[in-house]
Amino acid sequence: MFRIDRNLTADELDKALRTDVAEGLTARPKQLPPKWFYDERGSGLFEDITRLPEYYPTRAERSILETHADEIAEASGAVALIELGSGAGVKTRLLLDAMRRQGELTRFVPVDVSGEFLAASARPVVDDYPGLDVHAVVGDFEHHLGLLPVSESGRQLLAVLGSTIGNQEPGPRDSFLRDIHDVLHRGDSLLLGADLVKDPARLVAAYDDSQGVTAAFNRNVLSVINQQLGGDFDPTAYEHLAVWNAECEWIEMRLRARSAQHVRVADLDLEVGFAEGEEMRTEISAKFRREGLAAELDAAGFDLTHWWTDAEGDFALTLATVR
Ligand code: AVJ
Repeated sequence: MFRIDRNLTADELDKALRTDVAEGLTARPKQLPPKWFYDERGSGLFEDITRLPEYYPTRAERSILETHADEIAEASGAVALIELGSGAGVKTRLLLDAMRRQGELTRFVPVDVSGEFLAASARPVVDDYPGLDVHAVVGDFEHHLGLLPVSESGRQLLAVLGSTIGNQEPGPRDSFLRDIHDVLHRGDSLLLGADLVKDPARLVAAYDDSQGVTAAFNRNVLSVINQQLGGDFDPTAYEHLAVWNAECEWIEMRLRARSAQHVRVADLDLEVGFAEGEEMRTEISAKFRREGLAAELDAAGFDLTHWWTDAEGDFALTLATVR
């Protein structure tokens, strides 16, 4: 069975883009939220990133799931999988397979801002898991968690994979974890994928690859503004930067104007200038340590019960239960 709940209309999404771009381009320093990278081209570029030799997180997390999915399924005792920022791909299936082996898998709830993406990625799951109730939800999980179909019977496993959590600064991250806590019931589990602090050279390489795929991904946010809001950015006029912020322990992606730029965004009736060398932050990707993450989970009302890493110790999957 396949259902799709739409908690976010195309109109609301467009409004959110307008607000973020208007605020971000007039802020000092300028900044744009990373969620607007992912139009069709941006999503394709991200797929390409996950296959780059320098970008280890996807492979590392997959290897942890290949080794530990059965333990995760058993420890959670869950009958339903809710996945925020769902890939509905290999990693999701490793979890679904393990849950099915473990007991009574009844429901899969993939959540994403894109209905088209959900329709394309989650529908095949219906065919491959006969009898599974696939209840897709279109929503922004920073705003619509309260609307998730969380069943009253049987345990839930809520997964936030891919170090998606790293896109948020500590304050919003704390709110996000508390929101997750509040929609779940006692004994339900959170499976969180988190990239770990490591040699800055490797971190920077992961976000500034030699083929320039990440650079194209970064500049794509300018193309999104051009296409969706009538902007006239020249993406080639901006240099891609990946910087390790050692104090905050996150990677910052930025775009730096190679020369002075004058930009008009017609749909916002907005004109902005970039000075030569001016930098605009487009993403943070926070990196974690065990003690820090355990403390954040504890503060949000979770007990960390498991911590798994890949063989190299690059990436962690944590399982935590609602206290
Ligand atoms: C999908 C947000 C986890 O931060 O590593 C990859 C996005 N940005 N390369 C990350 C990303 C540049 C990715 N997340």
